[in-house]
Amino acid sequence: MKMNKKYALLAILTLLLLSVFAGCSSTTQGESEKESKQQPIIIQGPMPIEAEKFAERLDNVEEEKSGTFEFYKGTVNDYPVIVAKTGKGMENTAAATAVAIEKYDPIAIINQGTSGGHDPDLHVYDIVLGERVTNIGSLKTGHREEGEGISPKEWIPMDLMASEGSAGEDPDAENIRYYDGDQELLAAAKAVKDTHKKGKVVEGTIGSADVWNNEVDRINWFHEKYGTSLEEMEGAAGAQISKAYDVPFLSIRILSNNKVNGGEYDPNTAEANQEYVYEVVKEYISTTVK
Ligand code: 5AD
Repeated sequence: MKMNKKYALLAILTLLLLSVFAGCSSTTQGESEKESKQQPIIIQGPMPIEAEKFAERLDNVEEEKSGTFEFYKGTVNDYPVIVAKTGKGMENTAAATAVAIEKYDPIAIINQGTSGGHDPDLHVYDIVLGERVTNIGSLKTGHREEGEGISPKEWIPMDLMASEGSAGEDPDAENIRYYDGDQELLAAAKAVKDTHKKGKVVEGTIGSADVWNNEVDRINWFHEKYGTSLEEMEGAAGAQISKAYDVPFLSIRILSNNKVNGGEYDPNTAEANQEYVYEVVKEYISTTVK
């Protein structure tokens, strides 16, 4: 009887100890799972003046490089945020987006920076939230023989994502491809519109290509045919690659110039946009990801 009691006590003690250990390990596992769930938000900026002001606002910053792409890894309100200085243009942006997705598994990507207006109602310091983004360099020309000249107004939009077949022969590829901005990122951006005091914030269509258009008739052609609010050289590339990986994406662009209403180039717009995007990120963290 006495022995039985002793064994029972031992058994209870062992069970207790085991459950304490199990409890411990499940807490550690739970915590590390939680930590690994904190996927960073990536903020892309092409030029130093379009990335470094945001990077300065990060806490606990560490720098990492991949090729020519620079990543400033830090936190905003204790949530991981990475500023990516991508370099200018579609190729840099596409590659920097793919590298960042593979390396950092982001919860969302915001591409931001300066741009040139296509809409006469938009002025330098106004900001456009990319409700949709499109590649305005993806075009097919009409058929003309030698000596017949060129006719850019007849060029046809070409959708490289329409099929895996030849875009030149496929009539289904003769469409404008729009990439929609993520609804939750848009909601966060809309919620903090009032924080931008130097201009207005509107929703619109962003056109991207490795081209700087200074021909007003050509700008008007895009504005009418594609509905573009402005042009820049990165958004559509970031949007296309983000979609390929199913990562939420939004482009946020400030006008630094507007040829159609005489808006002179002002490089200080780059900083103003980063200030606004910082507010968007804080809003997104507090309402959506935390
Ligand atoms: N056309 C094209 N890109 C522009 N940018 C600013 N304004 C314009 C414009 N009118 C941005 C591009 C690129 C750099 C040249 O500036 O996105 O990063």
